[in-house]
This record gives sequence, structure tokens and C-alpha cells, in this order.
Amino acid sequence: MSVRAGREFLAIPGPTTMPDEVLRAMHRPAVDIYSGPLLALTDSLLRDVARVFNTKGRSYIYIANGHGAWEATLTNVLSKGDKILVLESGRFAIGWGENARRMGVEVEVLKGDMRRAVRPEEVEARLKADKAGNGSSTFKAVLVAQIDTASGVVNDIAAIGQAIRAAGHDALLMVDAVASLGCMPFDMDAWGVDVAMSGSQKGLMTPPGLGFVAANDRAREVHKKAGLRTPYWDWTDREGDLHYQKYAGTPPEHLLFGLRQALDMLFEEGLENVFRRHQLLAEAVRRAVGVWSEGQAIGFNIIEPEERCDSVTTVLMDSGHNPEALRAYCHQKCGVVLGHGIGDLSGKAFRVAHMGHVNAPTVLGTLSVIEVGLGALGVPHGKGGAQAAIDWLAEQVAA
Ligand SMILES: Cc1ncc(COP(=O)(O)O)c(C=O)c1O
Repeated sequence: MSVRAGREFLAIPGPTTMPDEVLRAMHRPAVDIYSGPLLALTDSLLRDVARVFNTKGRSYIYIANGHGAWEATLTNVLSKGDKILVLESGRFAIGWGENARRMGVEVEVLKGDMRRAVRPEEVEARLKADKAGNGSSTFKAVLVAQIDTASGVVNDIAAIGQAIRAAGHDALLMVDAVASLGCMPFDMDAWGVDVAMSGSQKGLMTPPGLGFVAANDRAREVHKKAGLRTPYWDWTDREGDLHYQKYAGTPPEHLLFGLRQALDMLFEEGLENVFRRHQLLAEAVRRAVGVWSEGQAIGFNIIEPEERCDSVTTVLMDSGHNPEALRAYCHQKCGVVLGHGIGDLSGKAFRVAHMGHVNAPTVLGTLSVIEVGLGALGVPHGKGGAQAAIDWLAEQVAA
């Protein structure tokens, strides 16, 4: 027997649930790629992608997933043999750095771990030592993820930018905002971020397939001498007047229609409200996990409460219990798809996404289903996790 009939709910951290409005916006015939409406659409999207990154710099839209956007950032500012510093706080900055290494870049990882945020003071110390080492700075760039989707950590990008300045270092600050853009503030110019990247399929509620990059003037200056530039990713080519050049070929029309609708919805709600909604729902999830963890079998991956992010919560299960059995139960019996643990947390954790097109019913429903699953599988847990989430929202969301 199951209670899963009806629409399934996807609680994985990307791709996320797409609003019906976004799906409908894509359900239309293709249009001429050389005439007015599509050119105006591109102009509006380039402007609004820069707006969500909060930058006066340039933005670029690629037909690519996050890995593609990573490659776009690296090829445009680095040369073979350059050295970069990767800040570890989970899996994704490491993956980005690994791609750089395969492109001939020398990569040093500032050791962190899966359970905590990057420590800005360690960044400052490493960069100071780098400068002192040979007179001029050797690291060309510092790579960090704002939110790491594997660990569920949020890094303080403003503080990391400050640490780079405090060290007097001129490395470019490059930030992965794949799991954070549209879910929490991103203040590219104020934080001193030189290059930022993201993708369409998480907070931006659009199908996977669009990669976004934003670059400030400093990065575009460095770009002029970058040796890894290739025709598809090249910023200079995409800055040309020809519309066709902006995508290095045929534009991904339907994804652009979807993105336009998604951005309109975010702006209509108001980005501040969008971020507050994410905060409230994330805290509802944390309240539930906090209660469940009283049973000693499950707990938060990220140790410090203030380092837990607002778009995904990674929940560890002790070795006597199988997170995959819980995921299977929630999916097969109740129609909720949870994220699995990845990287070092494979088989040891599950993840609850609360990013993008989420609201009280979807998050409270997901939490209730997890609680049903914990009960059905006999996983020891504190009772009343979903109730704690309900109490939190009742307290916070005024009548
Ligand atoms: C933080 C972060 N960066 C990069 C990526 C890679 O994106 P993609 O899977 O679209 O290539 C992901 C994917 O989940 C991610 O969460």
C-alpha cells in the first residue's frame, strides 16, 4: 500500500520544481532568431541576470549546466601554468578546481572539511604568506562556493572578500553561486567578487541548461591576456553586437522564455521577500531536524548553526540506519523525492532541499513525510519535528 498518488514532490537540491507559469512560458513555437522580440528578450535577460548577481559588471548566458559555467569562468581569466587557491567547504569548489587542474592550472586547496564553512582568517593568512613568498603574488584567483550543496554550508563571501583585501592580494575572487542565487542575497560588487557563476535549475526555477557568468571590469581586464580562451566561452566574442554571437550560435529560445518568466516571478515577489521566504522555510526544516536529532540516530551535517545554509539541509544518519531506505520509503510510499548524500557523505546522509519554488505546504509536507518514514522504518527520533516547524512558521508569519 502507498499514499503517493497525485503529483510527486521533488525535494532534491536541483533541478528544482518549476512553476507552472515557467512551464507554460516555454510551451510555444520557435521564433525567428534574428528579429526584434528575441533580441529584446536577450537584452532584458542580460540586464536582469546582472541584477540578480547585484553587479554593474557584464553578464553572459551560456547553453550549459554549472560545469559549463565553471569552464566559462576559468577559460576567460586563466592561462596554463597559473596558480589558484581553492577554498574547501564541501565538494563543489573542489570540483571546480579539479576542472581547472585538468586544464593545466596549478591548484592548491586550502584545507577545510565537509562539516564547516571556510574560515576567512585562514584565507587571509595563506594569501599573506603567498605575497611574502616571492615578492609578487602568485595566486591568480581564489575559488569558493557560496553554498555547498553537498555539505549544506553557507560561506561568508563578504568576509572572504575582506580577507583578500586585508592580505593586500590581487587574486581574483571567483564565486560559485549555483545553489544560492535567487535563494539568498548575492552582493557581487559590494563584496568585491570579480567573477561569479550560477545555473538555471535551482533558485532560478528554470530547466537545467543555462549557465550564467558575471564579471567585473577587473576580471575583464585580466581576460584580455588569458591564455585558456576558447571560441565558445569567450567573453569578447559574446560582447559583440551580433545577437547570434551572444550565444556563440543559435539561442536556447525556450529556456530563455522560461527564464524570463521565472525572473519576472522573482521580481514580482520582490527579491527581499524571496530571500526571507527561503530563510523562514529553511529554519522550519532546521527546527524539525533539531527535534528529530534528539533520538541520537540523525543530526545536522554542518556543526555550527549559523553556518547552515538556507537552500538545502544535509542530514547525517548514524551507521546503524540507511538513508537510502528512508529515501526509498518517502519516494515509493509517499511521493516525495529527497536528495541523497554525495561525495564523502554518500550512503551516510540525505538532503532536504528548500530552494526555488517552495512554500509552506511543500516544505511542511516534505517534513511530515520524512517523519512518517522515520516512524515506519523504526529510526529513533525525537517526536514532533514537523510540529516544531509548524510552530516556527505560526510564530513568524503574522496573521
Ligand atoms: C554548488 C554547485 N556548484 C556546481 C554544480 C554543478 O552544476 P551542474 O550539475 O549543473 O553542472 C552544482 C550542482 O549541483 C552545485 O550544487
